[in-house]
Amino acid sequence: AALVARRASARARWRRAVALLREFEEGCATPPARLRQVVDAMVVEMHAGLASDGGSKLKMLLTFVDALPNGYGPPRFLTAALAWNEEGIYYSIDLGGTNFRVLRVEVGSGSVINQKVEQQLIPEELAKGTTEDLFNFVALALKSFLEREDGQDVKKALGFTFSFPVRQNSVSSGSLIRWTKGFSIGDMVGKDVAQCLNDALARCGLDVRVTALVNDTTGTLALGHYYDEDTVAAVIIGSGTNACYIERTDAIIKCQGLLTNSGGMVVNMEWGNFWSSHLPRTPYDISLDDETQNRNDQGFEKMISGMYLGEIARLVLHRMAQESDVFGDASDSLSNPFILSTLFLAAIREDDSPDLSEVRRILQEHLKIPDAPLKTRRLVVKVCDIVTRRAACLAAAGIAGILKKLGRDGSGVASSGGSGRATRGQLRRTAVAIEGGLYQGYPVFREYLDEALVEILGEEVARSVTLRVTEDGSGVGAALLAAVHSSNRQQQGG
Ligand code: GLC
Repeated sequence: AALVARRASARARWRRAVALLREFEEGCATPPARLRQVVDAMVVEMHAGLASDGGSKLKMLLTFVDALPNGYGPPRFLTAALAWNEEGIYYSIDLGGTNFRVLRVEVGSGSVINQKVEQQLIPEELAKGTTEDLFNFVALALKSFLEREDGQDVKKALGFTFSFPVRQNSVSSGSLIRWTKGFSIGDMVGKDVAQCLNDALARCGLDVRVTALVNDTTGTLALGHYYDEDTVAAVIIGSGTNACYIERTDAIIKCQGLLTNSGGMVVNMEWGNFWSSHLPRTPYDISLDDETQNRNDQGFEKMISGMYLGEIARLVLHRMAQESDVFGDASDSLSNPFILSTLFLAAIREDDSPDLSEVRRILQEHLKIPDAPLKTRRLVVKVCDIVTRRAACLAAAGIAGILKKLGRDGSGVASSGGSGRATRGQLRRTAVAIEGGLYQGYPVFREYLDEALVEILGEEVARSVTLRVTEDGSGVGAALLAAVHSSNRQQQGG
């Protein structure tokens, strides 16, 4: 009788775990109708963010980048052509994700001849220390990189990719609005980021100055456009997520009278902070938000990007462990925030062996859960799958939102009401540059994103959209922009 009772209670506990899984799955559901609501909400918020500062959670920040490099001639942006005769070696610094990079880009007659990238992890204490420590670290890294280079033809113009929300005053200056992605250096908010770096460079005795201060999305767009002129937007899906795109200056209502050479400007959306009641939010998302330093901010980012996906899965598994006992006694480690990194989540989801041996290994080694039976391992895979699918579908909805705003979603020009079906003649080829560890390193994520784009846009329109991965685009693009802007400065007399 005792055995029967034990089996009955084990079955009941299992049923509880399955019920939690179903509940989570329903909460995360992203059917096409819902994704389209997210697309529409994105478009509405884009308009609101362009209308006034603070008009939307989407900041829609000006970048002052109105000329993009073009590999087959002078840099072009929309219709304007600017001279680009600055050949030589440009350097750039890329700060803002998990990794920190220093780059050397050799430019000759309008093309990238050579590039070299050095990368290191950002020591965690620097992300929460002082402004001076962070920028000294950056400047010293550049200094030692330069010392190891031949030093020939070094331009004094530096590209600086700083992947946080910045209110730009010009293409080479701007102040930090707030930190994201776990960085928190209180005395830095409101300061001019380029100035901080220039000061640190001077302290190190380097005669180099920031001539292009760019977001990683902007750098990625620059490199994407360099390779493919049809590139109109760039998306990052890494530790954080964000997008930028080329907007007509007359549509940037909050800066009426803004004039650019080209009639356009790259706008940094900061879409990580997008919010809409249509987003499929679960109680686990609320718990995650409570654990972060930037509560109530970056809601879209917290559902999509690499910094958070593993943690959402961990929160679900932890609740299952508490309420159903499926992980036995050895589930204590599941109570440690951020113990399940997104890297492991991806590895769990990608395991297609019949006995899920990689899942077993990860559970054993990293979560200290030995011998989880196959059906429990399947449950874990399912949780990781749900988290991944929702993230990829929402990112796809974001991309579709930009396309819709640009009138490139096949529904005709955006202002026509958007209900007409696409006709062949209206479809223009569109390229979107895309970068970031999650997108590049996680095939299932990419598949889901591609599928969702087809679901939202329809096959014909989706075929006209090329998502193109750029390697180190954020940093190389910044070096190219430094080149473009150093020549502009010369043209305009400095
Ligand atoms: C965060 C930052 C944003 C950056 C993105 C991707 O969302 O706020 O500026 O582009 O991460 O790195």
